Amino acid sequence: MDDYTKGRKVVIFGLPGAFTPTCSNKQLPGFVEKIDELRAKNVAAVACVSVNDFFVMGAWGKLQNAAGKVDMIADGSALFAKAMGLELDLTAHGMGLRSQRYALIAEDGVVKWLAVEPDTGLSVSSVESVLAQL
Ligand code: BEZ
Repeated sequence: MDDYTKGRKVVIFGLPGAFTPTCSNKQLPGFVEKIDELRAKNVAAVACVSVNDFFVMGAWGKLQNAAGKVDMIADGSALFAKAMGLELDLTAHGMGLRSQRYALIAEDGVVKWLAVEPDTGLSVSSVESVLAQL
């Protein structure tokens, strides 16, 4: 992530899991659809991070037509989620350790804005919310 954010402005959003309903029907498609609006605001790259392995992230990105628009990043062992203090324990739901839903704007390695969803829905970490901050 240090390399990914170095010398440029990037948007990173995290979510509880590939193929889950809100992530698949709203959050990821929003960023894919509005990639040109993000780029027009000087965003060099957009990354979707989830606690899934890279095979799952690859298959999900293919299905969502994310190639060339949103970088699908596998945080397979939840190391990034833990480093951010944004892990989410969904063990009771049979999903193990995951990530909270959030979005952030980083510039040259520094997080300039971070929004974490207060519950399971999508509001502050939507593409519309990010665009409003750029
Ligand atoms: C979702 O719809 O994004 C979701 C569903 C179950 C668990 C986590 C996320």
